[in-house]
Amino acid sequence: MVLTGQQILLGITGSIAAYKAAFLVRLLKKEGAEVKVILSPAAKDFVSPLTLATLSGNPVFSELVDEDGSDQWNNHVELGLWADRMIIAPATANTLAKMANGQCDNMILAAYLSAKCPVYVSPAMDLDMYKHPGTKENLSKLESFGNKVIPVGFGELASGLVGEGRMAEPQEIIDFLKKDIEDQSPLSGKKVLITAGPTYEPIDPVRFIGNRSSGKMGFALAQEAANLGAEVTLIHGPVHLSLNHGRINKIPIETAVEMLEAVQKVRDDMDVLIFSAAVADFRPATAAQEKIKKDKAETKIDLEMNPDILADTGANKKTGQILVGFALETENARENALSKLKRKNCDFLVLNTLKDEGAGFGHDTNKVSIINANNTWEDFELKSKQEVAKDIWNVLQNA
Ligand code: CTP
Repeated sequence: MVLTGQQILLGITGSIAAYKAAFLVRLLKKEGAEVKVILSPAAKDFVSPLTLATLSGNPVFSELVDEDGSDQWNNHVELGLWADRMIIAPATANTLAKMANGQCDNMILAAYLSAKCPVYVSPAMDLDMYKHPGTKENLSKLESFGNKVIPVGFGELASGLVGEGRMAEPQEIIDFLKKDIEDQSPLSGKKVLITAGPTYEPIDPVRFIGNRSSGKMGFALAQEAANLGAEVTLIHGPVHLSLNHGRINKIPIETAVEMLEAVQKVRDDMDVLIFSAAVADFRPATAAQEKIKKDKAETKIDLEMNPDILADTGANKKTGQILVGFALETENARENALSKLKRKNCDFLVLNTLKDEGAGFGHDTNKVSIINANNTWEDFELKSKQEVAKDIWNVLQNA
């Protein structure tokens, strides 16, 4: 579902249509969104904070400083940044005017000015107010800021007059939002497989051969793909990361063989497959059933080769699938990367070198180059793994 996992900040201002906002909260929750509500001081006369707190399952904010004597300062910046989308419904003529002019005398306006996400306004007012050139100008000013105006309805208004100015019905707001998200979700309908993290190859029940991969790069790629609308299957080794998104299905595994089996089960259905896992190349030829005692231990461990999951998938690639590998090279980086790309039948290879400070294993940052099958290179600066994930998805989307 398009709204699943979306974090929606709903600002409710003082209009008779505020009662409809309670239905809107319910519908948003039903669609799988997480909802936080801010009421303008005037809105409290029309709808109760308790109703909205109950429906949203979250505390309702209203004042920048709580009036309950706790002197608690409510962080509007945090709320603005928390939101994936902000909706102001109903938006009165007064609020629209303040938004259009950067005014900030309540919590909704403060959060609006701090929000970096798409903002939607659903105006509600009497027909003459709606027609007034001042209102029209404010609405077009908001559109020029990139805010979306949800069309008003036509019908009987609170004044008894009939005309344009009714707030859109909650279901219409939901439909508007869903369509807008779909339009902005270039990966909507696409299925993406990502492998991430290390694999652990058991020596005995307590010891293993592994590596220092944190899984951060693969998790960032999964998060970004889901943000772009894809359905993501994330097959990952043992990591200390949490990621909860309605469109990400996480499949934890331990060993390379388990990772291969999990990949084989789902790969035929995928549109894009990204192998960022640091798979252990070798595993102990036998894993002891019981913990090996040191007085009985051998001083060497026989190893055997693990399956190459990327190469196996490259050899079985379906028409139209985009296959992306990762490589870590310390010498002859470009030459080796190109031959790896060809050998494993990849469309792209993301190269990182351990020579760049702050790049690669365990770090929060990475510095990559991306090469395609035509030997075209793109080099990127050292960035956070989230930003690297965005760069990688940019390249893949333009492929
Ligand atoms: N890979 C895999 N299965 C393996 C080994 C690697 O799927 N058993 C994938 C990794 O997820 C990565 C790419 O193959 O996408 C890395 O290839 P690899 O040949 O292991 O290269 P490097 O790690 O760069 O190391 P080396 O060249 O030394 O083998």
